[in-house]
Amino acid sequence: MELKITLSGKGNGSTYSRLSFFLCILLYFWVLFNPVNGYSMKHCRIRESLNTSVLCDGRNLNAVPADIPLLVRSVNIAKNNISQIKREDFKDLTILKMLIMYSNRISHVENGSFSDLVALEQLNLAFNKLTSLSDQMFKGLDNLTVLQLENNHISSIASSSFQLLFSLKVLNLTSNKLHCFKELKHILQLPSLLKLFIGNNSLNSLQSQEISNRSIGLTELDLSRNPLEIFSVTADIFPYLKKLDLSFCGINGSMEWDVADRYFLSNVSSLDLSGIHMSLQGIGSVLQSINFSLASLGLDKIGKYNLINVACHIPTLKTLRLQCNNFSSVSDKLLQSCTQVTDLDISGNNITDLSEAAFRSIKNLKTLRLGYDGLSSVPNATRNLRTLKKLDLSHNIIKTLGCSDFSNLRRLEKLYLNNNLISKLEGCVFLDLRALNSLTLRRNRILNLGDAFTKGLQHLKSLDLGFNKLTNIRTNDFKSLRSLEDLSLYDNEIKTLEDGAFVGLAKLKNLVLLNNVIGKSEIRGAVFKGLRSLKTLNMASNAIKYEKDEQLQQPPFTDLSSLENLYIFSQHYNDLKDTKLLDLDTHSCSVDLGIFYFISTTSLVLLTLLGSFIYHLLRWQVVYAYYLFLAYLHDSKRRNRQTPHQYDAFVSYNTHDECWVVRELLPELEGVQGWKLCLHHRDFQPGKPIIENITDAIYRSRKTICVITHRYLQSEWCSREIQVASFRLFDEQKDVLILVFLEEIPDHQLSPYHRMRRLVKRRTYLSWPRAGEDTRVFWQKLQVALETRDWPAEENPILTGVERQ
Ligand SMILES: *[C@@H]1O[C@H](CO)[C@@H](O)[C@H](O)[C@H]1NC(C)=O
Ligand SMILES: *[C@@H]1O[C@H](CO)[C@@H](O)[C@H](O)[C@H]1NC(C)=O
Ligand SMILES: *[C@@H]1O[C@H](CO)[C@@H](O)[C@H](O)[C@H]1NC(C)=O
Ligand SMILES: *[C@@H]1O[C@H](CO)[C@@H](O)[C@H](O)[C@H]1NC(C)=O
Ligand SMILES: *[C@@H]1O[C@H](CO)[C@@H](O)[C@H](O)[C@H]1NC(C)=O
Ligand SMILES: *[C@@H]1O[C@H](CO)[C@@H](O)[C@H](O)[C@H]1NC(C)=O
Repeated sequence: MELKITLSGKGNGSTYSRLSFFLCILLYFWVLFNPVNGYSMKHCRIRESLNTSVLCDGRNLNAVPADIPLLVRSVNIAKNNISQIKREDFKDLTILKMLIMYSNRISHVENGSFSDLVALEQLNLAFNKLTSLSDQMFKGLDNLTVLQLENNHISSIASSSFQLLFSLKVLNLTSNKLHCFKELKHILQLPSLLKLFIGNNSLNSLQSQEISNRSIGLTELDLSRNPLEIFSVTADIFPYLKKLDLSFCGINGSMEWDVADRYFLSNVSSLDLSGIHMSLQGIGSVLQSINFSLASLGLDKIGKYNLINVACHIPTLKTLRLQCNNFSSVSDKLLQSCTQVTDLDISGNNITDLSEAAFRSIKNLKTLRLGYDGLSSVPNATRNLRTLKKLDLSHNIIKTLGCSDFSNLRRLEKLYLNNNLISKLEGCVFLDLRALNSLTLRRNRILNLGDAFTKGLQHLKSLDLGFNKLTNIRTNDFKSLRSLEDLSLYDNEIKTLEDGAFVGLAKLKNLVLLNNVIGKSEIRGAVFKGLRSLKTLNMASNAIKYEKDEQLQQPPFTDLSSLENLYIFSQHYNDLKDTKLLDLDTHSCSVDLGIFYFISTTSLVLLTLLGSFIYHLLRWQVVYAYYLFLAYLHDSKRRNRQTPHQYDAFVSYNTHDECWVVRELLPELEGVQGWKLCLHHRDFQPGKPIIENITDAIYRSRKTICVITHRYLQSEWCSREIQVASFRLFDEQKDVLILVFLEEIPDHQLSPYHRMRRLVKRRTYLSWPRAGEDTRVFWQKLQVALETRDWPAEENPILTGVERQ
């Protein structure tokens, strides 16, 4: 299980803030250099996936970027300052499927600009400055299915501009300056076109004989907000039309409706006549001509009561919208004929007087919307609606909820009580709502939860208590909500969470405590007890403060075995400085796998670079360090075994110098001076590993004589054996080592042999005299050196002062 913690320090230099800052910086560089991508673009981001996309939105570009890779499937250049599209802009992008260019200043498109986009399926040119669509403009877009041209200034469309768009299914021309429906003739005849949106233009008539004498395949037509004077269908050209939007059409109540045959629009199931400028008789005849299949009718802002009766006589009508019609009162009679309606929306009517029997005749009411209606209490009319599934009472002025307000709403699943003035909840209020799964009490004035959630509501899955005035959550406050999955308590004034505050919420997945004043003492294991399904805990923007290095008394989240996301960024304390300014929302840098891959790849590359650099320049030092480490290990083992000295000196030398050792050193020291030497070719035990032999030799000898030449340094000195073995020579702090230089070795040549150089700097040593010089002094000094017993070199009266020439 992966736990994601989102947090940020709050100007107190916490480790968290430094960490998040570091991650932010890394993320920034990652985005800036985008090193994981095969291609890169100067101004855009490329997201490589199955559908490689180019993201250039909102970059103040003046032209389409010239470096779009050919293998992209989606290009987003929305929200820039591009004023025209040139022929070469999208050349060769033959697999591009989606091109998004809304919100630019495009006024001109060169002919053939899209001709290579044979795979393009969606083209969005909305919110631009196009004034006309020319003949060749969309040439080549054989596979285009969705074309968005809304919010331009298009007033003319050339007759063949859409000619080859065989696959076009959806065309949005909303909010343009079209004034002649005839010009759309060619569009309507496109073989695949299903949905046409031409609302908010200047169309003043629709007359079917101008368009076609054959049927067209359109299923959805939005003509809303056009100043239509006449809507005339004299042939069955819309046999498949299902959805027709005529809202706010016409001017000055004058729109004329001429549908020659009731069967012509017999497939329309959804009709919007809201705010239509038409006489009462006019609307009446519209409703009659669509009297076969109509299931959903919009009659908002129409201000004519009698229409309700007409509409409700349509036997198939199920959904009736009557928003903003100024019925301040709803009598028993108003909806009497709407017996078959299942969804009724009478929001925004300033209803203050609602008869108790207002909905009684509606036998199968499932959804009732009474929002924005000025109700000061839950109306009696909504009780006992046994079939009701959804009740919206939001945006009223309800102050209190009574025990019988929701009585017998046994099937109610969703209840909206948001944006009211409720301050108190009684334990009895929701008891009858046995099927309720969603309750919204957002934006009220609730001070405490009372016993509202300790009994009943056992099927509730979602409870929104955001924007209230709760100050504490007490033990068992949500005890009975055993199905609850989402609990929102954001934007309250919660300061205290009692032990067991969330007891009973065994299925809770999301707990949002964002924007309260919860302090660190509330973050206790006992508070979160029982939340074993919790996946997301959001405690951002509270007052949780930990001092640097402070330890948690008791791990607070141990019960939360399913937790995946913990948000605790933006904690504010009541310090003198308002710390809000320093908020760092690390949410935006929440780390995804990509950055880990990036970091590990980068580290690997850097390590490799560093490795080869080191190998090249500092090879010897590294080899050295390695041996030193081995030596340390070995020496620690060895030191415990005290071996008596068997030899006076062990002589370490390179085979090339064996000649000198045998001819000069051996006869003098063993023969003349009488010391017992240990030489590897003579004294090492056969069959024993070389390293053992050398170590034994060093530890069994009082002194070790190193015969130093260039060759010795290169091979012997760095050999594993000598390094391991000679550890004693350096670290026992005894004057064990005698350095004999057979050749002259300048200081700079010594520098790679770091330890040797240090020795030479710290100690005195002996140099073999040049050819022809007297050797007697040398042998004398060597004898003295061999005689001294473990004195620190500095105190050796004889060796001190001996200098290398
Ligand atoms: C957009 O481009 C025009 C010239 O084409 C320029 O005058 C205008 O300032 C630009 N707008 C922005 C926001 O850069
Ligand atoms: C156009 O769409 C069809 C059907 O989806 C598809 O088979 C064909 O490959 C597409 N053409 C191109 C050029 O992508
Ligand atoms: C068409 O454009 C209008 C205006 O922008 C928008 O409200 C509507 O949702 C669009 N319709 C579709 C299907 O895109
Ligand atoms: C439809 O038929 C009428 C009468 O025959 C004719 O005047 C009209 O031009 C035709 N409309 C179209 C779009 O072909
Ligand atoms: C719709 O048709 C039915 C019969 O098919 C009829 O009784 C009813 O009055 C009609 N409604 C309207 C509004 O014309
Ligand atoms: C509703 O009443 C208000 C003022 O009382 C008026 O401005 C508005 O036009 C009325 N709406 C309708 C649809 O009659």
